[in-house]
Amino acid sequence: DCIKVFAPATVANVACGFDVIGLAMDAPGDEMIMRRSDKPGVTITAVHGAALSTDPAQNVCGVAIQALLQKYGQPEAGIELELFKNIPPGSGIGSSAASSAGAVVGANHLLGNPFTQKQLVRFAMEGERLASGAAHADNVAPAIMGGFTLVRSYKPLDITGLHTPADLWVTVIHPQIEVKTSDAREILKQKVLMTDAIRQWGNVGALVAGLYQENYDLISRSLEDAIVEPVRAILIPAFYELKVKCKEAGALGGGISGSGPSVFMLSRGEETARKVAAMMDTVYAPLGVDYKIHVSQI
Ligand code: HSE
Repeated sequence: DCIKVFAPATVANVACGFDVIGLAMDAPGDEMIMRRSDKPGVTITAVHGAALSTDPAQNVCGVAIQALLQKYGQPEAGIELELFKNIPPGSGIGSSAASSAGAVVGANHLLGNPFTQKQLVRFAMEGERLASGAAHADNVAPAIMGGFTLVRSYKPLDITGLHTPADLWVTVIHPQIEVKTSDAREILKQKVLMTDAIRQWGNVGALVAGLYQENYDLISRSLEDAIVEPVRAILIPAFYELKVKCKEAGALGGGISGSGPSVFMLSRGEETARKVAAMMDTVYAPLGVDYKIHVSQI
């Protein structure tokens, strides 16, 4: 009567697509054991691997499931969960999103699947609102739907899955420092220059075209961010060196993963993705910062 849920790490923004494009990795991911409960509402029995609250109102899993239960409309319904955090909070690979997404996918399953994927994304976004102050969907959508996703509009919510080329891999380095998404959002400028905007929407359109055409050169040229990266780069040790060296090692390109401090690089094929991982290691080893590197097919 209990289920185990795996919810993957995700890379939001993917360079040019701030708040609209995201992709799902194979691993790492958060895990949770969930079951129906006689106690109405959400009960979080324990959180392992991170110092997070078990109070459902202060935990993204609790808030996301609560949003789902409210829509479900049966006041006696109860969900219990135990959370295993494998993605550290503040890592830039969708830690809060994985927990929110896994929680609503699991709750939906336990209730007999009354909701659509799109509704689940909406509930999981409430977890993101608690975590970062903004109900962005570019991590929860790929965590729930898999592959690449695009948020065309937030009001009304309009999300679509995108094609993922067969041989596209992602390498992520996660420096073990915490960057709060809320802080990384606060430093952003609220206005953009027309010239930067033109560059950015050219890249977003071309990235989507590149994914559908499986055109790795076009994908490579599109991985550019004229708006957010220049402001956030200061949060990440050796960011520009990492970018240059990883491209020398064969990466198509990359940028800050979500709001950082993780940095992602896309590659064609596993062999290149692993060379990029080795290059990340070379750049980071002398810095005296702890880090983890993940290689995953998309
Ligand atoms: N799009 C969000 C941001 C993702 O960059 O702030 C946070 O993981």
